[in-house]
Amino acid sequence: MKKTWWKEAVIYQVYTRSFKDTSGDGVGDLNGVAEKLDYLQELGVDMLWLCPMYKSPNVDNGYDVSDYRDIMDEMGTMADFDNMLEGIHSRGMKLILDLVINHTSDQHPWFLESKSSRDNPKRDWYVWRDKPTNWESIFGGPAWTYDPKTDQYYLHLYTKNQVDLNWENPEVRRSIYDMVIWWIEKGVDGFRVDAINHLKKDYTDMPNPEGENYVPAWEKMTNVEGLQEFLTELRDETFARYDVVTVGEANSVKAEHLAEWISEEEGKFNMIFSFEALESWNTDQDADRNVVRVKKIFDQWQKKAHGIAWNSLYLENHDRPRTVSTWGNDKEYWRESATALACMYFFMQGTPFIYQGQEIGMTNAPFEDISMYRDVETLNFCRYQQLQGVPVDEIMEKIKKISRDHARTPMQWNSGRKAGFTEGQPWISLNPNYTWLNVEAQKNDGRSILSFYKKMIALRKSCECLLYGSTELAEVNCPDVYAYTREYGNTKMLIVSHLDSDGCSWSLKGKGQLLLANHEEITEGRLQPYEARVYLLD
Ligand code: NOJ
Repeated sequence: MKKTWWKEAVIYQVYTRSFKDTSGDGVGDLNGVAEKLDYLQELGVDMLWLCPMYKSPNVDNGYDVSDYRDIMDEMGTMADFDNMLEGIHSRGMKLILDLVINHTSDQHPWFLESKSSRDNPKRDWYVWRDKPTNWESIFGGPAWTYDPKTDQYYLHLYTKNQVDLNWENPEVRRSIYDMVIWWIEKGVDGFRVDAINHLKKDYTDMPNPEGENYVPAWEKMTNVEGLQEFLTELRDETFARYDVVTVGEANSVKAEHLAEWISEEEGKFNMIFSFEALESWNTDQDADRNVVRVKKIFDQWQKKAHGIAWNSLYLENHDRPRTVSTWGNDKEYWRESATALACMYFFMQGTPFIYQGQEIGMTNAPFEDISMYRDVETLNFCRYQQLQGVPVDEIMEKIKKISRDHARTPMQWNSGRKAGFTEGQPWISLNPNYTWLNVEAQKNDGRSILSFYKKMIALRKSCECLLYGSTELAEVNCPDVYAYTREYGNTKMLIVSHLDSDGCSWSLKGKGQLLLANHEEITEGRLQPYEARVYLLD
């Protein structure tokens, strides 16, 4: 497998809005990112993925861009961006931006022109129809909104303020490529490409919208025939001309299709986020945690990728509840389960991503009332469920499990005022556990989750086997143990994560040197609740 800088990197996802506010308006900003670069460097991170910081009305927290070449007011200025980028590069780190190119804000000048009249030259930059199809949007409600002025409907797979660009139009594609090149020339090192498998549409009605075989719009609008041609052109006109790294957000891609997406030969991206493994593990804490199924899916991806492709490794992002609260146990085994889950994914083949706060074991927010939630998807969900007559209690139970806001509460830096996040009023409430769960409290504690992440990063970097070795599931007698080996030349390593609150019997076949563990006492023949170990095998 070809060795490359981004394969050896550890990437940290910054949800800029909730990371660090320096202006006092309660919203995280670019100067805040710049201020925390030393923290990230000390953690061992090589690259940052910055969630959208472009000019935006913020209906979907920046995933509704109104100017691709400017910075949103709350986050600072282009000079702040340049200063942050300088700070990143001067530390030998790199930066990837979030590229939101399936849709723009309805406030983008392109759309304002497009909707101004039927014969405006930009009319065809978006999708307009006299008669809408029966599609539903991903965030609930119809995917078409009526515009009375021009008496037509426009398409939006997300909210009505996130209007889908018409990728069939070559001028649209050219404008996007020019913008991408503009950022690369400015010095960014790559992109996480948002919602990329929705670019191509199939404009027919949904089958059976009401009945059992109901297919939600996003499923029908995903990976449509012809998409790969768009992606090929995007790659060839932009990324392929530079030494940058790309990660496509590619829902519903299965392991058997990974070659066309990420293989060195024909891939359109260096890596993707495909969600198959994450989604196979229910986010409902009371649900059956099916480690066996998760192992099977990760294993398929590892096997199919080995030798031909690389991929991303991740547990969390800004769209999902916190894993320590869903897959783990954020009460009795908070520290143990956060570190066991970390150990499980971090040493597979691929580039690991850490979502802000994951490295200190941040948990779901105990928001009881709908007024505490900010996420447009959550609020829409609430509205549409109410319209369908679902009782409020039931809706709230669901929201408390699935809301994206769980991952968006402010970063917990210390136990002081507003957790060290802001001098002002945070745009979303803090998780009240910041008084004990914070960076400051973990920084000098060798047993903390933060220290464990530092050790994992250092270990991964110290050993080629953990970077380029082959991955093989190891047989274990207990279904809740996730164990796998990495092998490279004469080196073989074993990673064992026990993902349950019970103990279980287990023994190491042969001999090994223990390199990392999340429990202090190691018992022969037994794994304790959420115990994780990494061995160098003889
Ligand atoms: C995926 C992003 O991660 C999510 O936050 C956003 O709402 C949608 N794409 C729409 O851009």
